[in-house]
Order: sequence, then C-alpha cells, then structure tokens
Amino acid sequence: MADSEKKRFTKDFTLQEPICEEGIEKALAILRSGKLHRYNVDPGEKGEAAQLEEEFAAYMGKKYCLACASCGSAMYLALKSVGVKPGDTVLCNAYTLAPVPGAIENAGAQIELVEIGDDYTIDLDDLEKKAAAPGAKWFMLSHMRGHIANMDRIMEICNAHGLVLIEDCAHTMGATWDGKKSGAFGTVACFSTQTYKHMNSGEGGLMVTDDPDLIARAIIYSGSYMLYERHTARPEMAVFESIKTMVPNYSCRMDNLRAAILRPQLEILDNQCARWNKRYRILEEGLTAIQGITCPQRDPRENYVGSSIQFSLYGQDEPTIRRFLAECLAQGVELKWFGNKEPVGFTSAYESWRYFGRLPHLPNTLRILSVMCDMRIPLTFTADDCCTILAVIIEVSAKVIK
Ligand SMILES: Cc1ncc(COP(=O)(O)O)c(C=O)c1O
Repeated sequence: MADSEKKRFTKDFTLQEPICEEGIEKALAILRSGKLHRYNVDPGEKGEAAQLEEEFAAYMGKKYCLACASCGSAMYLALKSVGVKPGDTVLCNAYTLAPVPGAIENAGAQIELVEIGDDYTIDLDDLEKKAAAPGAKWFMLSHMRGHIANMDRIMEICNAHGLVLIEDCAHTMGATWDGKKSGAFGTVACFSTQTYKHMNSGEGGLMVTDDPDLIARAIIYSGSYMLYERHTARPEMAVFESIKTMVPNYSCRMDNLRAAILRPQLEILDNQCARWNKRYRILEEGLTAIQGITCPQRDPRENYVGSSIQFSLYGQDEPTIRRFLAECLAQGVELKWFGNKEPVGFTSAYESWRYFGRLPHLPNTLRILSVMCDMRIPLTFTADDCCTILAVIIEVSAKVIK
C-alpha cells in the first residue's frame, strides 16, 4: 500500500482538555490574592486546600482527607502513617508504575511482588500464598490502569491474614466495585491529580481514610507545622496532642492554587468518567473484533474509568510486536508496550526496580507484560477519533499480526 493511501491519525495522545473556566477563575483569584500557601488564610477562613479535602472526603464517603504534593508522596505518607517500619515487607501487585515501588522504598520497606493474571489484576491465589507467609502485614494494591481486582476476595484475604490494605487509586478516581468506590475498601487510599489523571492540577495527590490517628500522623508528616487546626477534614484537636512532637515534617503539602483548580473539577468528575467510558467502549468493541488482539475480560461488578486502554497480542513474538508498534506510530497511533526489557517513558516493568536488590521471577506476569500494549484516551479525542484510531490498528494488524 502506498503511504498516501494509509489511514492516518494526527491528534496528540498527551493533550488533555483545558482547565474548566471556573477553575481558571478560582486560580486567578488565588494568584491575585498572593495567598498560595495552604496555611496563608485569614483567622477563621477556610483555605482552598481545606475545602478540597472536605469535598473529596464527602465524595468518597470517608471521614478524613489530606491533600498532598503528589500521589507518590501521599502513598509514602500513607505507608509511614499506617505504621510501616524500615525493613518491613509490603506486598504489591507486580503490574504497576515506578512511583508505587518508589513509595515503598522511600518508607524503608522491602517489596514482595505478587503475580498478575490475564485480566491484568492481581493473582488472588499468589496473593493468598504470600499473605500467609510470616511477616506479611502490609498490602499496597495498585489498581493499575484502572483494572480493579475482585475486591470481595481481596477483602476476604486481607481479613483472613490480618493484612492492612493501602489502595493506590491513581487510575481509579471515580471508579467503583459492586457499587462501592475504589479507595473506600482500604485502611487508607491515595489518588493522583497529576495532568494525565482524572482531575488535573499538574501535580497533586489526595489521601482518604476513616482512621483518626492515621490521618493525624499524615497531616503532621505532610508538613503542617503546628497549624493542623486549619485543616477541616481532620479529627478532633486532641488526637494531635500526644503525637505532635513525635512526627517529623516531610513537607509534602498541596497549595491553594492547585486545590482551587481541582475543586470545580471534582463537581464534574462523574460526568468526565462517563465521557471516558464512551470512548473506551468504542475502542474496546473495535479492538476485540480484530484477529490477534485480546482485550481483558472485565467483571460486571467493575465500573471502571476508561481513561486508557490495554490489550494483548498473544502469540506474537518480539519482532512482530515491535513492527506493529512502529507501523501504528508511523500512522499516528502512539501505543506503549509493557514488554520492553528496559523501562521506556511511563511504562516501567518490575524487573527494572533493581534498587530493591532481590527481584523475583514471576513467569505469569512476565508472559502477560511481554505482549501487553497500552494507549491513552484523552478527552480531547472524539468518538470519530476513536474510529480513526481503530481504522489504523485494523490496517496495521492485517499486515503485521501473524
Ligand atoms: C499506578 C500509579 N500509581 C501512582 C502514581 C503516582 O502518581 P503521582 O504522579 O501523582 O505521584 C502513578 C503516576 O503516574 C501511577 O501511574
């Protein structure tokens, strides 16, 4: 086929929608006031960061919330605040992204990686086996790329083995399992508001919990100085009294500017999630129909947010997959691949976290990652754009996939 006859996609896979007008107005008001620091408020005034925390706690149906500099810092503070000590072991699914093992390492802990299955979620049998091992107490479950494991079984395993669950909801803000919000299952859950996530403040993280001691520690760790009274999604002041000089300051705060941008986005979050899913379903249906491409089976109880899509090229060797990716890219469709031996861009594979020293051989995870492709679905893409992307992938697949 001549190059001029090939289907072509021309939009940018990293282009998000602009910040909504209300967010821009609020940001300008903060900039004009000069009061960007979260504790720079008048007596009795509730700052933007405090209001965001109240509103996000209410959205999640949780008592407490803390806004942080990033999800990575929120996860680190969550691990410290829940009681992880240097040398402890934290179980974690092996399909996740670099900030997750990074938070575990930052807390001084060792990682115990758990296999994944063909639906890209954690392998529950491997989890059960590792949960039963001596010393297993902490479990960081990363809902990577929005794939939510069977949370009923997860909670059964956690309860049976006394595992404390910390949820990484960087990709599941707005998602539910069997009607319950992702992030409402664990002792503590962390969310990202980094540009490519479901709310965009450039960088940012949110932590939620119902545990008053945990959140009090997290607030002080985050760098509240002795100003924690200015938080409003917090427990009574008495909870802070006994710990206020025992918890160091790690300076991981969110500022009022970012909180101001996020508050109006929270109001439209559910609608945005529905818009993502409309695009996801077009792509999923189209991809499933292509010979050689497999989309994971999703449980009907999983109400995910399809802000990205993953699929497997089972049975294809590395040269074929590389050619498939290169030809898609040449026609404007940017796909990532989790099978790279060395980490590329945002798609780090667990074997590259060599700072932990010992890394297990996880044959199933390696097999699954070796054929897994990944594509962002920004809301700047229309339904027609999704059809053009599919047309490119159909064309390339017919030529490349064996
Ligand atoms: C699965 C996952 N967890 C956590 C994070 C950390 O988020 P942040 O960039 O806000 O630190 C990311 C970031 O991309 C992620 O992909």
